[in-house]
Amino acid sequence: MDRTLVICKPDAVERGLVGEIIARFERRNLTIVAAELRQVDEATAARHYAEHEGKPFYGELIEFITRSPAMVLVVEGPEDTWKVVRTMMGPTNPREAPPGTIRGDLGILFTENLVHGSDSIDSAEREIDIWFPNLSATR
Ligand code: RTP
Ligand code: MG
Repeated sequence: MDRTLVICKPDAVERGLVGEIIARFERRNLTIVAAELRQVDEATAARHYAEHEGKPFYGELIEFITRSPAMVLVVEGPEDTWKVVRTMMGPTNPREAPPGTIRGDLGILFTENLVHGSDSIDSAEREIDIWFPNLSATR
């Protein structure tokens, strides 16, 4: 089994869309193995988004992810679950995301794109270790 890290970002919590997003994963027959509503602090945000440090949108991204609570999940399924979840999320820019995807059905703004999903098994391992150090990405 593979696991991946998902964050229902502050916009999803503020808009009351967490249930809708989790329900999509459940309907897909994926399993939620951890879930916690967290007020993300700057240090954790910086660790999580280390790859984007220095990019033009970095400041806006950190401000957004720390502005109100986020629902952090570990989602489990068969191999390449990270990829299945990314496909369900749709492209980064919700305006380009097709209907049927989380971003394409529920989002319209760029930074505020509702969800994060790990982009590889290595990212999943790194990110799960940040948010849920007692869990690992494979079992
Ligand atoms: P995520 O990491 O949140 O799952 O999103 P992603 O892989 O689809 O996109 P990534 O390139 O990792 O970017 C991380 C987040 O930064 C914001 N972003 N804004 N204004 C911009 O040009 C821009 N580019 C990225 C988005 O919130 C994106 O999800
Ligand atoms: Mg990313």
